Amino acid sequence: MIKIAPSILSADFARLGEEVAAVAAAGADLIHLDVMDGHFVPNLTFGPPVVAALRPVTDCPFDVHLMISNPDRYLEDFAAAGADYLGVHAEACLHLHRTLSRIRELGKRPVVVLNPHTPLVTIENVLELVDMVLLMSVNPGFGGQQFIPQAVDKVAELHAQITRRGLPVEICVDGGINEDTIGPVAAAGARVFVSGSGVFGHPQGYQAAMEAMRRRAAEYVDASP
Ligand code: DX5
Ligand code: ZN
Repeated sequence: MIKIAPSILSADFARLGEEVAAVAAAGADLIHLDVMDGHFVPNLTFGPPVVAALRPVTDCPFDVHLMISNPDRYLEDFAAAGADYLGVHAEACLHLHRTLSRIRELGKRPVVVLNPHTPLVTIENVLELVDMVLLMSVNPGFGGQQFIPQAVDKVAELHAQITRRGLPVEICVDGGINEDTIGPVAAAGARVFVSGSGVFGHPQGYQAAMEAMRRRAAEYVDASP
């Protein structure tokens, strides 16, 4: 099953609650919330109070992507604010095994995230601990960037490893995903797709954007060996 996770980074921040309700009503599978600290990435967004304020707007699960240094310090706060999936960058965690275990202890779904340059070997020893691996297909920090095509081979390699080890881990890609780029990453084995500008900037609206991406991904998945 293909899951689309609109990233609210590209939403109208003056009407954030309405925007979340609108993408949920248009068929979003997850709501992707990008938290940036101006240190791990060169941009700033929002913290736990905004996540908590949005929580009552929808039942759609919240996928919180922490692009912050020292995420351990804030895990409890984001869990209490209503995150369902809690994603940390391997590059930001000195004790990644402990951090992912802590997310599970908090009753949330652990997600490990890799920047485009970070090799898969970095997370080999924590794959048993996570529900999802999020592979960045842009350098994190901004919406609306161009998809980095090397992500396709990385997805395929991770998919092969997960299958070989029989692990129940979903593969997610984040960055530059739209109806033109989704196909090859879906064929390679990704099933969860974060899309900011591809959904919020689509000329035909949110539902049309997500339907077009699902259709395109399904075509490639069906055609893959
Ligand atoms: C990038 C964020 C992404 C971003 C994706 O740092 O992690 O979630 O919002 O935006 P698009 O889909 O526009 O590349
Ligand atoms: Zn993100």
